[in-house]
Amino acid sequence: MYSEATTESPETTSTESVTPMTGQTDTSEPASTAGTAEKNVKVKAEDVNLWYGNTQALHGLNLDIHEREVTALIGPSGCGKSSFLRCINRMNDLIPSVRVRGQITLDGEDIYDPDVDVVQLRSNVGMVFQKPNPFPKSIYENIAYAPRLHGTVNSRRDLDDLVEHSLKRAGLWHEVSDRLQTPGTALSGGQQQRLCIARAIAVNPEVILMDEPASSLDPLATATIEELIDELKDRYTIAIVTHNLQQAARVAGYTAFFHMGEIVEFNDTDTLFTNPREQKTEDYITGRYG
Ligand SMILES: Nc1ncnc2c1ncn2[C@@H]1O[C@H](COP(=O)(O)OP(=O)(O)O)[C@@H](O)[C@H]1O
Ligand SMILES: [Mg+2]
Repeated sequence: MYSEATTESPETTSTESVTPMTGQTDTSEPASTAGTAEKNVKVKAEDVNLWYGNTQALHGLNLDIHEREVTALIGPSGCGKSSFLRCINRMNDLIPSVRVRGQITLDGEDIYDPDVDVVQLRSNVGMVFQKPNPFPKSIYENIAYAPRLHGTVNSRRDLDDLVEHSLKRAGLWHEVSDRLQTPGTALSGGQQQRLCIARAIAVNPEVILMDEPASSLDPLATATIEELIDELKDRYTIAIVTHNLQQAARVAGYTAFFHMGEIVEFNDTDTLFTNPREQKTEDYITGRYG
């Protein structure tokens, strides 16, 4: 399943980057794409640097996030995983001291371009946080609020359909369909997290960023979220921060290992976990630090 990353012709893997090529760079080479199910790069980060005030937290990151795949971001606490994730939908704009340099593109478009509508970007690139944060509103309103606010869906019937569709896609519908008017905050932690995923889905994103989405949940709720992520990747591009290496191995096709604000290694998950190139990666995945 990860063969596109490992069976790439030698010319394309001989450089420092192990990122599977998109085929955009050399259209004169027919053999490079023939017959292979090459993945598109959905989000491309190039030389991303980030400072909090005078303190640099990200140092020249490069990463390709592949379309309709799950990419895990792993690494010790404080190494910049969340900071990087927040760059992808410009959540860092909300932190006054932050400065970002470098380029991040979504479908080839620079998301830091001054013309970008940040509200639209954040619909397109949704985010799910560690601690489920449903609005203090009904289950129904948690889903319907943003689409109604943005005026994208107005009629009651269309909203009903959207709520049902989003909850179904988040694997929550059958648990809550008979109590849509009860508070979202009254659900269990795992249900709340799926409600937050449904809320993100309702505004029709292409990319979903998840920052340790299961780390506050019990093992059963965690398993449900992992199954859901596996289903969602058929439609969405997902980047997930996790400190749980088994979780990364279970859900992610690709994994990036972060260390002290750098990406030490990026590869398909199987290779990264079984045959890491870098000593630091090996030390981390074998539990020597972290
Ligand atoms: N809002 C913030 N203001 C100042 N420093 C921050 C802020 N958020 C994170 N940092 C710092 O940036 C570095 C990376 O943090 P973070 O991205 O949260 O790492 P991780 O998610 O890998 O644990 C850490 O040194 C952290 O203290
Ligand atoms: Mg974090």
